[in-house]
Amino acid sequence: MAASKLHFIALFSFMLSCSLMASASAASLKVGFYAQTCPSAETIVRKAVNEAVWRNPGTAAGLIRMHFHDCFVRGCDASVLLRSLPGNPPAERDHPANNPSLRGFEVIDEAKARIEALCPGTVSCADIIAFAARDSTYKAGGIYYAVPAGRRDGCVSISDEVLQNMPPPFFNATQLAQTFARKGMSMDEMVTLSGAHSIGVSHCSSFSNRLYSFNATHVQDPSLDPNYAAFLKTRCPPPPPPGARGGVITTVPLDVVTPNRLDNKYYNELRHRRGLLTSDQTLMDSASTSRMVVHNERNGAAWSRKFARAMVHMGSLDVLTETQGEIRRICSVPN
Ligand code: HEM
Ligand SMILES: *[C@@H]1O[C@H](CO)[C@@H](O)[C@H](O)[C@H]1NC(C)=O
Ligand SMILES: *[C@@H]1O[C@H](CO)[C@@H](O)[C@H](O)[C@H]1NC(C)=O
Repeated sequence: MAASKLHFIALFSFMLSCSLMASASAASLKVGFYAQTCPSAETIVRKAVNEAVWRNPGTAAGLIRMHFHDCFVRGCDASVLLRSLPGNPPAERDHPANNPSLRGFEVIDEAKARIEALCPGTVSCADIIAFAARDSTYKAGGIYYAVPAGRRDGCVSISDEVLQNMPPPFFNATQLAQTFARKGMSMDEMVTLSGAHSIGVSHCSSFSNRLYSFNATHVQDPSLDPNYAAFLKTRCPPPPPPGARGGVITTVPLDVVTPNRLDNKYYNELRHRRGLLTSDQTLMDSASTSRMVVHNERNGAAWSRKFARAMVHMGSLDVLTETQGEIRRICSVPN
């Protein structure tokens, strides 16, 4: 009783300090939003990203993925950054889709600390994620786009909402398209953004069913190139039986050919049945999506432009603006 009362009070006081009121008409985001209030904000983020990516190229992948995971759950409101609080249900950050694989948090924290020192209480964590994803896209792929800004930070983060909004790696093309459609994003945008899997890594657990326990008739996924499967098995041993301890926690590049270069070679890999996740390879399964795969493979410049546009669209999903939410002082806790 006492505990649940406390929980209620904690949640209630969040709401008072962080407005959840929807404004009558949602204000739109604006390029150059901080031009007057914090002119060096975007430069500071870019520097922090460049330093981090120079130390570890995989950070670019982490930050691009972070923007996706933020925007698909409760909109681009930096809810993915909030830490679980004692006495509350776990936060998004601790959902298995994010913990332990999501990376780049320390880059956001570093950029935020530098910005706060200069213009306190001005630049949202949600905008910092959007800038960092853009700078990572440029760093890893030479693809540049302007980021409309003015997002505000949310006050709520609930682990259970991840499963309802994020597509798991075993989804087929139809299910992926549905997940994106629920956010107002097209099938072409889904196929285009899947090109982000031309960088970064996946843990074996995200695809090892394709190697060892596919379905009742096939041990191994027949849509997987056998040589590629043999290579993957050297990196990913069979998962330990349920209840057994241990198991090697290994990662494998999502794109074996150019693992740190954000480019359209990913689509060529798909055509050669070397998509790592079911959700990658499935894009070759239906006529509608496979046509898009082939188009992206053949038209790198067009794919880059579509990628930039789709990132901007994704970055606008269910944003908080104006008096909604707050500007967090520390990205991992509400004010
Ligand atoms: C279409 C549905 C998608 C599914 C099912 C999916 C699923 C996954 C999974 C399972 C991983 C590997 C996680 C791990 O085991 O470590 C991953 C990694 C990644 N995803 Fe996606 N993803 C999707 C779309 C996207 C989108 C739209 C973006 C960004 C625009 C994105 C960017 C990335 C990046 C960059 C990585 C590598 C992360 C790293 O190396 O740290 N993904 N994704
Ligand atoms: C995709 O998965 C759904 C749900 O399991 C299934 O109903 C549908 O038939 C599948 N679509 C294709 C094209 O395999
Ligand atoms: C197993 O997967 C294959 C290839 O996707 C499919 O043709 C077959 O019908 C599946 N079998 C069962 C029992 O689901």
